[in-house]
Amino acid sequence: MRPIIGTMDIHIELERKLAKFKGAEACLVFQSGFTVNVACCQSLMSDPKDLLISDELNHASIIDGARLAKAARKVYPHKDMKALQAILESPEARAARRKMIVTDGVFSMDGDLAPLPAIMELADKHGAFVMVDDAHASGVMGKNGRGTPSHFGLSDRVQIQIGTLSKAVGAIGGYVAGERRLIDYLASVARPFMFSSSHPPSVVATCSAAVDVMMDEPERISKLWDNARHFKEGLQKLGFDTGASETPITPVMVGDTAKAQAFSKRLFEEGVFALAICYPIVARSKDRLRTIVSSAHTTKDLDFALEKFGKVGRELGLI
Ligand SMILES: Cc1ncc(COP(=O)(O)O)c(C=O)c1O
Repeated sequence: MRPIIGTMDIHIELERKLAKFKGAEACLVFQSGFTVNVACCQSLMSDPKDLLISDELNHASIIDGARLAKAARKVYPHKDMKALQAILESPEARAARRKMIVTDGVFSMDGDLAPLPAIMELADKHGAFVMVDDAHASGVMGKNGRGTPSHFGLSDRVQIQIGTLSKAVGAIGGYVAGERRLIDYLASVARPFMFSSSHPPSVVATCSAAVDVMMDEPERISKLWDNARHFKEGLQKLGFDTGASETPITPVMVGDTAKAQAFSKRLFEEGVFALAICYPIVARSKDRLRTIVSSAHTTKDLDFALEKFGKVGRELGLI
């Protein structure tokens, strides 16, 4: 590629690579996944006549973006397609200038998947467009980890695909992929993009190399899924409730804040790091440990962790 100015060329190369990865025309990289969600909600839902429709368990960055947007907001119960349909059929939605349905692709606390085919069908029927936050699906779901639209065969239909560079990619940053005119528009109005510095070249190079790994070494993703299955089955055999998880994000439901914190602390003393997620991050009595395996874990690592989960779980009367 012809050098442009200084390090600009590697930024542009990363955006081209991510657009291709997502099967989109273009892409824009932001400082974090949080800022890209805020920016898209705020910039695309900028008029009081717009309507932003959101799953109740969407990430905090979508909630904050919706608060900054000038649009009206409607929230539907988690994955409830009847409720989404009712919102889309309401007089308010019919009168709206633009309607955007926003959903996480993989929900961050429960590890379950959005019903994307049903969402897309309703969106098409009612003239809405769809934004999918694939923070936890990039590098995990779909061909070479392209995300939930790829997993469901909807890459060419979902209008706005969000990814982070801070999870499977292992660096920092976020991106939005979609049509060229969407990306050009965001580049000229998205405030976190325009009024905050971009990544240094070291971060861009790290992200770029990580995308190459996802494209060239799909066996890592297969290993991730093998590990996730092994660990989840092991937890279930021990008698733990792993909730609604369908992905490597695997909650271990506890239901009590003090117990979840004690569980996490005792596991750490035994050599296992598993963070307690408690109210207000999740609803009251949905306290849990949130676990996630990686492709780098060995079966020996996972069996060690399972043995400790069993030991501490029995000690605390959880199983
Ligand atoms: C679903 C979801 N979206 C967005 C983000 C924000 O991503 P980042 O950490 O890159 O800011 C997170 C991070 O926790 C997340 O879980």
